[in-house]
Amino acid sequence: MGGRIKVQGGRPLYGRAQVPPAKNSVLPLLAASVLCGSPAALLGPPRLSDVEDCLAILRAAGCQARWQGPNLLAGGPPSRCRLPQAQAGRMRASILFAAPVLARLGRVETWLPGGCRIGSRPVDWHLSALEQMGARVCQVGQRLVLSAPSGLHGACLSLPGPSVGATETALLAGCAARGRTVVENAALEPEILDLAQFLNRCGGCVEGAGTSRIVIEGGRRLHGTAYRPMPDRIFASTLACAVASARGRVTIAGCSPGLYAPVLDVLEQAGCWVLRGAGWASVGRAGPLRGVGLLETGVYPGLATDAAPLVAAALLSARGQTVLVDHVFEARFGCAGGFEAMGAAVSVRGRTLHIHGGRPLHGADVTAGDLRGGAALVVAALGARGSSRIAGREYIARGYGGLEEMLRSLGARIG
Ligand code: EPZ
Repeated sequence: MGGRIKVQGGRPLYGRAQVPPAKNSVLPLLAASVLCGSPAALLGPPRLSDVEDCLAILRAAGCQARWQGPNLLAGGPPSRCRLPQAQAGRMRASILFAAPVLARLGRVETWLPGGCRIGSRPVDWHLSALEQMGARVCQVGQRLVLSAPSGLHGACLSLPGPSVGATETALLAGCAARGRTVVENAALEPEILDLAQFLNRCGGCVEGAGTSRIVIEGGRRLHGTAYRPMPDRIFASTLACAVASARGRVTIAGCSPGLYAPVLDVLEQAGCWVLRGAGWASVGRAGPLRGVGLLETGVYPGLATDAAPLVAAALLSARGQTVLVDHVFEARFGCAGGFEAMGAAVSVRGRTLHIHGGRPLHGADVTAGDLRGGAALVVAALGARGSSRIAGREYIARGYGGLEEMLRSLGARIG
C-alpha cells in the first residue's frame, strides 16, 4: 500500500464529515475479544492496515477474525500461543495481545512491537505489570516469551507513568486474573474508558476507568457482545486542522467536541471560528491566522501528542510564533523537514518545534515518516499553493481509513 498522495493545495473545504470509530479504541478491543468465550461484533470499524494486522494476529492465535459487511466479528478462545512476527513486529498495539493470550493459554510467544518512530517506546511497564500478576517473562533479542502455567493473579499495580497501552494491558490481564487488580496512576484517555465499557458489556467488572485508579474484579467468564467503538478524536482533530490550513467551513459530526477540546481551543485562539454542539463541531476560517505562543502536549485531557503535528501544520503560515513542546514522545516532529520543504520557517530542538510563522506555503515533494506526521504533511499541503506529493502513504494508511475520499467530498483535490 505504498505510493504517494497528491494534493493540489489552496482549495477551501466546505461541507460535513462524519468521524469514523477510533483506531486506538478498535485495536485494544480486538485484543480484548480474545478473552471472550464467543466472538464479539465490532460495529463499523475503519479498514486500516493496523486493523488488518490485528486480524492476522487473531487468526494466528486461532481466534475468529472476519469482516461481515461493515462490521468485524472477532475473538473467541485462542488455541495457539505463537503470534506472527511480521504483524506483531510492525505495530505497537500487538503488545496488547500478549496479556489475553497468556491468560487464556498460560503462554504467549510474541515479538517486541513496532510502530511509529516518534521516540523510544519500551514495553517494560506492560511486562512488569504481567510479572507482578504471576507471569514469567523471557526476552531474547526481539522475541518475547511469557508464561504463567497456573494462570494470572490479581495485584496492586502502580504504573510508573500513566501509559495508555500499559493501562490497557493491566485491564486485560486483570479481567482474566484470579481476584482483584488495582491499577494506580492509570491513563485517563477516553479509549481506556471505551475498553472498560466493552469489557463490562462482555461480563467483566471494571470500575474507575477514566480516573487514575481502576479496580478490576477478575475471573469472570466473558462473552462476546455487539459494540460500537468510540469516535476517533484524532481523526476529528485532523479534519479541524485541515480546515484551519485550507480555509473554508466544515461540520465535523459524530464526535463530541469535548474529546478534542484543546485542538478546537487552539484553532479558535489562532483566529478560526468554532461552534460546538452535542456530538458535532463546526470549524471555519476566512482570514489569516495568528501564532499562539507556547503549546504543550500532555496526557488527557491535555493537548494530545498525536494532535501536535496536525496543529503545527495548521499554524505554519500564521503570523507570529508558535512553540510546541511534546512531553510524551521525544521525536514527535519528524515531519518538520517536510514543513520546511513547503516553505515554512520551523526548527526542532529536542522535543520542541518552533514555528516562526508568517511565510506562505508552497507545494513540495515530501515524505511521511510516521502516521500523524504524515497526516500533518497532508494538512499543510492542503493550505499550500501548488501541488505536493507525499510519499510514505503506507504510514497514513495505518490510521486513516477514507481520509482522502472524505477530503475530496469537502472540495480538496487529493488522490
Ligand atoms: C498510545 O500509544 C497510542 N497508540 C498512541 O497513538 C499515542 O500517541 C499514545 O498512546 C499516547 O497517547 C495506541 O493506542 C495503539 P503510552 P502507547 O504507553 O500506548 C512510555 C497514533 O498515532 N512508556 O501512553 O504506546 C512511552 O515511551 C499512536 O495513533 C514506557 O516507558 O503510548 C511514552 O513516552 C502513536 N514504558 C509514554 O510512556 C512502557 O512500557 C506514553 O506512552 C510504556 C510506555
